[in-house]
Amino acid sequence: MPAKSSNCASRAGPADPEWLALSYDAYPRIEEAFQAVLGESLQPRGHEALYELVGGFGLPAGSAAVDVGCGEGRHSLELAERFRLTVTGIDPVPRHIELAQAELAAFAALHPDAERRVSFELGVAEALPLEDRSVDLVWCRDVLVHVAELHQAYAEFHRVLREGGRVLVYQMFGTDRLEPREAEWLWRTMGVVPASAERASTEAAISAAGLRVERCIDLSEWGEWAEEQTGKSSTRLLYAARLLREPQRYVAQFGQAAYDIMLGDCLWHVYALIGKLDRRAYLLSRG
Ligand SMILES: C[S@@+](CC[C@H](N)C(=O)[O-])C[C@H]1O[C@@H](n2cnc3c(N)ncnc32)[C@H](O)[C@@H]1O
Repeated sequence: MPAKSSNCASRAGPADPEWLALSYDAYPRIEEAFQAVLGESLQPRGHEALYELVGGFGLPAGSAAVDVGCGEGRHSLELAERFRLTVTGIDPVPRHIELAQAELAAFAALHPDAERRVSFELGVAEALPLEDRSVDLVWCRDVLVHVAELHQAYAEFHRVLREGGRVLVYQMFGTDRLEPREAEWLWRTMGVVPASAERASTEAAISAAGLRVERCIDLSEWGEWAEEQTGKSSTRLLYAARLLREPQRYVAQFGQAAYDIMLGDCLWHVYALIGKLDRRAYLLSRG
């Protein structure tokens, strides 16, 4: 069935002969072919895209990078390994630094020079524990929605960046498709500072810091890529359906706070897939 009664009502109305002819005569004739075309991948780019951007910077081996908000250190190690960079991973969560250091120790068993080139320390984007003009690459992936003082964070990126260095920031932003009540709940649950999920605030902070936008790349296709590779988004959609249908089952087992975070995380992926959130990478240089 192409349309249910609620759709009928919101369009021309169920009794409209033109709509009836379109929906129940013309459309069914092409529906199967349409779905077959939709079954073809649009060849979305995946997570490699950020590394390809770094590759394009042509940084010589031994260049210094900071991974701001490094989490468990996966990308710090990848940057060090792929591009032979010296990387400092910074994160405010002690558990992340401990896990990153453990990951580094395991990695170093196979790559003996890794411990000379990679280190992790506690810190925040707004006050980087680094000297002025000491890095060639600031990599900040999926972090700045959590930062209220965006101006301060970008000022720090500018301060630590050497002449000719580059900044790569990746994050999600709310779009016009995200309804205000959805946004309010999602931002609160996921620890997002509302203004920091707006492109205008980000671009104002970049410019106030004296950084220049070289490129802003829409990477919203990542959701499709993840779905095509692993079915991650549809799994999250299924989880969201279960969480919404029987909240008490999961709240009783894991508590309300964990329930909210799980639902927020599931909806985050679903919203990103359907364009309520978009993913962008900014490539910046000293202005
Ligand atoms: C979604 S995770 C991303 C981790 C990693 N960058 C990645 O892409 O896998 C967000 C990270 O931001 C960190 N974070 C939160 N507030 C921060 C701040 N003010 N400065 C630096 N990192 C922060 C969190 O601890 C967490 O590790």
